[in-house]
Amino acid sequence: MEAIKQLEELVKSLKSEIKAVKNDKELQDLKIKYTGRKSELNTILRSIKNLPKEEKSVIGKESNKTKIQIEEILARKEIDLQKQEEKEILEEKIDLTFPGKKTPLGNLHPITQMYNKVVRVFRELGFTIVEGPDIETDWHCFEMLRMQKDHPARDMQDTYYIEEGEVLPRTHTSAVQIRTLMNQKPPIKILAPGRCYRNEKPDPRHTETFYQFEGLVIDEKTSLKDLKSTLTSAFRRLLENDDVKLRFRHNHFPYTEPSIEVDGTCVMCGGKGCRTCGGDGWVELCGAGQVHPEVLENFGINSDKYQGYAFGPGIGRFVMLRHQVPDTRLLFENDLRTLEQF
Ligand code: PHE
Repeated sequence: MEAIKQLEELVKSLKSEIKAVKNDKELQDLKIKYTGRKSELNTILRSIKNLPKEEKSVIGKESNKTKIQIEEILARKEIDLQKQEEKEILEEKIDLTFPGKKTPLGNLHPITQMYNKVVRVFRELGFTIVEGPDIETDWHCFEMLRMQKDHPARDMQDTYYIEEGEVLPRTHTSAVQIRTLMNQKPPIKILAPGRCYRNEKPDPRHTETFYQFEGLVIDEKTSLKDLKSTLTSAFRRLLENDDVKLRFRHNHFPYTEPSIEVDGTCVMCGGKGCRTCGGDGWVELCGAGQVHPEVLENFGINSDKYQGYAFGPGIGRFVMLRHQVPDTRLLFENDLRTLEQF
């Protein structure tokens, strides 16, 4: 029987041909060749119905057996190829030491980083952190701080009024001094960080919005010496830069007496004078002073028994001196090329 021989040959030639198969594409070609519509096997299967009866059953059986055999050989090869591929991936193709794709990581804004640091440092010094509203009344922001209606700080140049002479985005965090005195009795030791707003022409040291932190300490025995040592110790920790010298000098604020100002050496010019410091060699860090007795008396605090001090540094100034930022406006432009450096 010619067909039986033909079937045996088919299996033999498949077995030898499949050895050379190296990938899935080649395997698919072979599959078509041996089991496809135009395959020899299919021709035999289709011819069965025309065979004489006695041959029909023998050849029918034999060709079905061969079909199964061929399919098994092909299926086994497919599994082998898969295993081979997995092995190659695991053993050779994947280099586990190869650096991965970099996912860009965000980071906190330099102002936020300094803000958080301010909170941490002053907590360590025993201050309680409080907050006041961004939108204030004239009474909290000026009146109770002894700034009469004609005081220059109330000039339209400096203040963005929402309701003329009544409601404003706060120009300084000192308003939180008043909010604290309204609902706390001495001893008081608070720190109030927050955002402030001034109608100011921006320059390397000024922006229309900025951040301050207000400190207020009221107790029975406080002095300028305490103010000075508190600020020196806190500022050292915030600046982390020994090249910055601190300078304390006289200033004037209606709500403190005496009033002082603290400056730091300009790190951009090392004190020689440049654009950043406006030629001065120093950058103002903060206004401060002993709380004016009248401010205390307005809230029923006996100023013979209690004294205190207050201070209001700008957070941006610390970022400038800590990281050598030549212009504070850079901190508000939110250009990623700048921010990614922190
Ligand atoms: N409020 C002042 C300012 O914004 C700073 C200051 C705070 C001065 C507390 C004295 C006491 O410049």
